[in-house]
Amino acid sequence: MATGKKLSEISWQEFKALPLAAKGDYFQGIPPHTLIAQQFSRTRLEELCTLATKIKRINKRRDGANFLKTLLSDKRAMLYFAQPSSRTYLSHNAACQILGLDTMDVRDTKTSSEVKGESPEDTIRTFSSYADMIIMRHPVGGFAERVAWMLAHTNREIPVLNAGSGADQHPTQALLDIYTLARSFEKTGGIDGKHIAFVGDLMRGRTVRSLAWLLTLYKDVTLYFVAPEPLQISPDILELLDQAGTQYVITQDFASVMPIADAVYMTRIQDEWDAEGESCTIDTSDFSIGAEHMDILKDTTVIMHPLPRRSEISTDIDNDPRAVYWRQMRNGMWIRAALILTTFGRQDEANQYYDDYKPQA
Ligand code: NCD
Repeated sequence: MATGKKLSEISWQEFKALPLAAKGDYFQGIPPHTLIAQQFSRTRLEELCTLATKIKRINKRRDGANFLKTLLSDKRAMLYFAQPSSRTYLSHNAACQILGLDTMDVRDTKTSSEVKGESPEDTIRTFSSYADMIIMRHPVGGFAERVAWMLAHTNREIPVLNAGSGADQHPTQALLDIYTLARSFEKTGGIDGKHIAFVGDLMRGRTVRSLAWLLTLYKDVTLYFVAPEPLQISPDILELLDQAGTQYVITQDFASVMPIADAVYMTRIQDEWDAEGESCTIDTSDFSIGAEHMDILKDTTVIMHPLPRRSEISTDIDNDPRAVYWRQMRNGMWIRAALILTTFGRQDEANQYYDDYKPQA
């Protein structure tokens, strides 16, 4: 994994100016950080998906679950969530528990010494004194990168895992989305060649921005960006897709995309980023899905959502086998466990156990 590029050997100004792919090279060292979608290769995604399934199977039996709990029982993780979160927080916490890693948390900056005027940098350095890994969500885009860079300039560089930063990146959500797509298309040739539609607030949906990039690693996929014009995907993502040679279509016409999509990735309006409630004036009624659309979708189409949802997915379709968003959420726990295990380089022990005992699905 190590690329030889060290965060400790580059100035923040130089690092900040790098293109995303070049930044990714700095996160593969020891310890590895998980900060942006652009740091992943397809091989790495496949490794993580395979390991996630193994962990899931091993965990099914009590002796397997007990074994998994020994893998990182010498480590502690700090969950620092300076933005609201249910799933991402809980699934990281659950992933840590599966691997026996103890967790501590700060979920509200009002309860940390930041209110006494401590800088976020000093707060993070404090966390690193007690923990072996920081899993963090922060409203400021790029702050997780800054934290990793900063820790690399101390004598305690511990891995940083970005659990959502600003409106920009959500790499671990993109991992669980890839895992869900890969599992959904297991019997139909995998993700290659599939038509994947993103619907809703694509401009500020960080999950979409991270996942769109990961999909460039697959062959012949076509991405459909279906959104009202003011919420359409940003040019910076389209530029990355162009560079990668990934095909895409930009449209407001969800009805025309429904019959051809293999996956429909719904998102909510991210109005927390509004300056003055401007999202309320946008008509989003055509960017939702309900019982009336189920005959238009293919029988094999999967409906995904990073959640939380509002009204863009009707609860009427929750029990349709094509609605995979609850499974998608649970997948997050397994792939995050795989990610955390590989972050500490302990995957060989899980692979060995799997080979020895061959737990079944
Ligand atoms: C997403 C997020 O926080 O970006 N939620 C999540 O992590 N599952 C999506 C959202 O909040 O809409």
